[in-house]
Amino acid sequence: LLNDVVLPSNCCMLFCEGPPASSSSGHNTRTMPERRPFVRLPTDVYPVNYGLCLKPDLIDFTFEGKLEALIEVTQSTNQIVMNCADIDIITASFVPQGSEEINATGFNYQNEDEKVTLSFPSALQKGSGTLKIDFVGELNDKMKGFYRSKYTTPAGEVRYAAVTQFEATDARRAFPCWDEPAIKATFDITLIVPKDRVALSNMNVIDQKPYPEDENLVEVKFATTPIMSTYLVAFVIGEYDYVESQSSDGVTVRVYTPVGKAEQGKFALEVATKTLPFYKDYFSVPYPLPKIDLIAIADFAAGAMENWGLVTYRETALLIDPKNSCSSSRQWVALVVGHELAHQWFGNLVTMEWWTHLWLNEGFASWIEYLCVDHCFPEYDIWTQFVSADYTRALDLDALDSSHPIEVNVGHPSEVDEIFDAISYSKGASVIRMLHNYIGDEDFRKGMNAYLLKFQHKNASTEDLWDCLEQASGKPIAAVMGSWTKQMGFPIIVVDQEQQGDDRILTISQKKFCASGPHNGEDCPTWMVPISICTSEDPKCSKLKVLLDRPETTITLSGVGPDQWVKINPGTVGFYRIQYSSSMLESLLPGIRDLSLQPVDRLGLQNDLFSLLHKQADMQEEKNRIERVLGAISAPDLIQKVLNFALSVHMTTLPHVASVV
Ligand code: BES
Ligand code: ZN
Repeated sequence: LLNDVVLPSNCCMLFCEGPPASSSSGHNTRTMPERRPFVRLPTDVYPVNYGLCLKPDLIDFTFEGKLEALIEVTQSTNQIVMNCADIDIITASFVPQGSEEINATGFNYQNEDEKVTLSFPSALQKGSGTLKIDFVGELNDKMKGFYRSKYTTPAGEVRYAAVTQFEATDARRAFPCWDEPAIKATFDITLIVPKDRVALSNMNVIDQKPYPEDENLVEVKFATTPIMSTYLVAFVIGEYDYVESQSSDGVTVRVYTPVGKAEQGKFALEVATKTLPFYKDYFSVPYPLPKIDLIAIADFAAGAMENWGLVTYRETALLIDPKNSCSSSRQWVALVVGHELAHQWFGNLVTMEWWTHLWLNEGFASWIEYLCVDHCFPEYDIWTQFVSADYTRALDLDALDSSHPIEVNVGHPSEVDEIFDAISYSKGASVIRMLHNYIGDEDFRKGMNAYLLKFQHKNASTEDLWDCLEQASGKPIAAVMGSWTKQMGFPIIVVDQEQQGDDRILTISQKKFCASGPHNGEDCPTWMVPISICTSEDPKCSKLKVLLDRPETTITLSGVGPDQWVKINPGTVGFYRIQYSSSMLESLLPGIRDLSLQPVDRLGLQNDLFSLLHKQADMQEEKNRIERVLGAISAPDLIQKVLNFALSVHMTTLPHVASVV
């Protein structure tokens, strides 16, 4: 998912509504096929509860399904429009509450729109009733919808599991449904499976009995889910071992692994049991389900998927071989588990109203996974990795003309997958990190708690979160964040200084940072930039915080003597680059050499200077200065010491190579 491809900035316009392209002369000279604008499902019928029974055939790769959905008709109609893709409906009928069953007389599939219209001979009256649909489908090999996953048993036999991946819009491939995140309902799921297989779904098993028509099968019934979106529904049927534990807040946690590899699930189990109480405490909202399963799936398209109560993972994102896995594998597993468990609250309990807000879902989880891992495993020093992985990557990509705003309007399903990119994830996480730092942890948590309580079991938009954070902090969150999410790119902050007695006067200005050269034109965008400043007196702590809400400003730092250095952006949390004046840059050298400047600060400075270096090609003196600072950060003397040590070891243990060296 997290590939390096950045979409062209107009990618979100593929489906924009408007007249089809035609020449002004009126001749039809279209070069692109006309595409109908995307329309959401009608609201005259909505689901309250899905009673869903599925019977997969793991040999023929097909499945039979029975849906009995309790629905509400809000406006009299003789048709029902639902999402449906690659499914054949056998029969459909509607039973109005307390009245006679009405058989559907037609199923009109709109394949391109992934919809089906069920027609009834008479109008369905306002009120509730049960929609019954029998259908069949294929256990496909596309790793989406209800699909088959190949594995080899310890004895070497090839077998298949049946698994699901529904986000963003593939629940409709497993059963006809209202497949939009804001159309929430409860689910009662039953699976009919071979009796020697494990059957899992979002909830715990409440009943298991032999299937009357086939003695080799059992009918497994799961508890009713809370009200939830279709993209979070999941089921898995296969052969797995598991390890189990109880988190301190009473949730049963299991990690399912391939048969014979239960040992490799122990680390993820430890992470999950530590993580659940962390989130419960951070959000002040308990995890609402009685259990959570984490399962490694042999064939898996994404890295992991946060299905409520049944989180699915690629094997490399969940399993740790205690003897052979390296630290970076453990850190990756901890981050992925932290990410998906965060979604159990942020995404599952409160769900985005539409896919336009997906960046917030993913950006938030991609930030808080680090907060969580830092809490549970402080020895990882994981924030330094955030800066070296997500933050600098986002800056590099977002400086390109081909970047796009974090928030893009999406409609058609084909557009949704396009926005799962590094801008949504890494820039999204970086601006949430900047926001958290701007607000402060206490008010941020207050706002988060208000948001989760207000919208739990419902849907929310990005603006709803900003409102709650604004209320909690008294700061202009919507205005600040809008400048980062609605326009692409970021600023470079240009800083100069002047000493006046015991005061340091800083001149700070912003302009758009472009990898392709300075931004030309009058309409140079500006950002509302939270800026913090530290000095050599306390390099870890901000001496002053300001909000730069205009192109340029002047700041007075009082009590900063001429011998002190001043650094912008301590902790490298602001999503911008900094261009220091020559004197400011040079003055940072002692802080770099004595290491009082923190690793993330040196990392941020190094990254900014690298990106500026090629722009200074015509200014030799400045280039030299930058190279000097970069050299100090990379500490060649330190590298030399390491090299010398390595050589001395070589020469004592392998004297014959000494002459070659
Ligand atoms: N919700 C996503 C998984 C997803 C993304 C499914 C796109 C379908 C389409 C999940 O929470 C996620 O973000 N997974 C990441 C791993 C994470 C640790 C960054 C992934 O799959 O790369
Ligand atoms: Zn995610």
